[in-house]
Amino acid sequence: MSVVPQHIAIIMDGNGRWAKQKGILRARGHEEGGRSVQRALDLCLEHGVKWLTLYAFSTENWGRSTLEVNALMHLLDKYLKERTPEMMQKNVRLHAIGELHMLPEHCRKQLNASMEATKDNDGLNLVLALSYGSRQEITAAVRSLAEQVQAGTLQPQDITPETIGAHLYTAGMPDPDLLIRTSGEMRISNYLLWQISYAELYVTDVLWPDFGRKEFEAALAEFAKRERRYGKR
Ligand code: IPE
Ligand code: IPE
Ligand code: MG
Repeated sequence: MSVVPQHIAIIMDGNGRWAKQKGILRARGHEEGGRSVQRALDLCLEHGVKWLTLYAFSTENWGRSTLEVNALMHLLDKYLKERTPEMMQKNVRLHAIGELHMLPEHCRKQLNASMEATKDNDGLNLVLALSYGSRQEITAAVRSLAEQVQAGTLQPQDITPETIGAHLYTAGMPDPDLLIRTSGEMRISNYLLWQISYAELYVTDVLWPDFGRKEFEAALAEFAKRERRYGKR
């Protein structure tokens, strides 16, 4: 019997290295990474994965060159414009997590339009982490809870893991079962720190633009072999 994860989260890393290896601009690597996004989405649909959360742009990525940031924002806008009709056709609902107000207006508008258009779709849920940082997310949640305590509408003893979860960008979403990172880096880079508490980790050396069926199915096979114990025996 094969066990398919309900929710896969991916740190899509290695676009820059992929471009460097080929002697082309980093932006071209990101462009190729966009094609991998589409492949991953189709593979999730094929295998019955219900949630796919992609790390597309971190809070820290704002620190890259203006040239690269602009290229990434342009790509996001273009991707959403081109792919929303396909999301409709494939019954995909788009969500976004992160400090979305930080995005340039053209991206925010397109993102809102795509989320609005797909809001009644109930097949796969595609979650884009944009200007996302887990520490920033947790900080915002803590601040909001502190405000409620100060206002007297919440008692400190009523704060539970569930209360905290409900104040994160991911409120209402299931936690990831499987976290994949491409390009071999053994780190989390401020991604879903709270949500991946019991996720199975899978790191592959393959660079994100080269991530396709073979690697995706290898990750699923590895996941199926894992014994998830949640601390119990
Ligand atoms: C991942 O690829 C995409 C983003 C972070 C937006 P990188 O751009 O981090 O690629 P490397 O790590 O430099 O190879
Ligand atoms: C993580 O990759 C962010 C995304 C994939 C969007 P980075 O390339 O930015 O992370 P570090 O710098 O290797 O930690
Ligand atoms: Mg990287």
